[in-house]
Amino acid sequence: MKPIIFSLPGNESLAESIIARMKVETGDFEIRQFPDGETYVRVLSDVKAKNVLIVCTLHQPDAKLLPLLFLCNLLRDLKVKSICLVAPYLAYMRQDKQFNPGEAVTSQYFAHLLSSLVDRLITIDPHLHRRVSMKEIYSIPCEVLHAAELISEWIKLTIPDAILIGPDSESEQWVSEVAKNAGVPFMVLQKIRHGDSDVEVSVPQVEKYKNNIPVLVDDIISTARTMIETVMHLKNAGMKPPVCIGVHAVFSGNAFKELKKSGVSKIITCNTIHHSSNEIDITKLICKAIDRNQTELK
Ligand code: R5P
Repeated sequence: MKPIIFSLPGNESLAESIIARMKVETGDFEIRQFPDGETYVRVLSDVKAKNVLIVCTLHQPDAKLLPLLFLCNLLRDLKVKSICLVAPYLAYMRQDKQFNPGEAVTSQYFAHLLSSLVDRLITIDPHLHRRVSMKEIYSIPCEVLHAAELISEWIKLTIPDAILIGPDSESEQWVSEVAKNAGVPFMVLQKIRHGDSDVEVSVPQVEKYKNNIPVLVDDIISTARTMIETVMHLKNAGMKPPVCIGVHAVFSGNAFKELKKSGVSKIITCNTIHHSSNEIDITKLICKAIDRNQTELK
């Protein structure tokens, strides 16, 4: 039996490209807000004993969580066989420890909640920093995919004379891999975060790479302070205007506008979150993972 796919609002374009590539049935359902802001959900397709895929990237997660919870509960009531959540961007991965006494370690609470709602999770480059594996917080099977190869292909084709730059030590894992696969050099900078929107970045010796095109690569661009700070330093060091590549286009508030204004030549992201900067398509990664998961479920 073909899996049946439901896409929560805002995920239509990714869901459509998954449907175009795979043998899946499109789930018919209605989801809307009552005038008082509460959520109404109704599933019209026959889902009994079917493997369900829900596409719901978890950017700005708080508003998405209740609709997701209602849909999952309803699907269970309708006796589905399994639920796999396709969340290319997984939220609440950054608050992974108590930085100050009394703080909630929300990555853990969020993982606990999602693990109680769905049977499987497919995601792309979750921000595993202090955690080594999703198993530490998620109790369901999680398929973690990486955009590195697709980013490498893009760089190889578009900017063969790139020097890859990771803004902080956490970015080294993907920057080094992207650089290796694209066949270009890389360097990783030092970052000190003083607050949510206050970031300091140090740039090492850049003389050697003055004729290359700097390409900044990071997993998340949120306030864009990390990228902007790095762009400023590169500018002061006399380097060419950089291309910024982020896997996840979170872009809070005016972040995208401010990054554009900071003197970059281009901003590129993957379509894990729908955004005008999306240029690297992750659909084929997701489809392969769905195929693997469906095979395991047979
Ligand atoms: C941090 O640990 C991540 O890898 C990114 O560097 C960070 O999330 C970027 O955040 P922002 O855009 O707010 O500086």
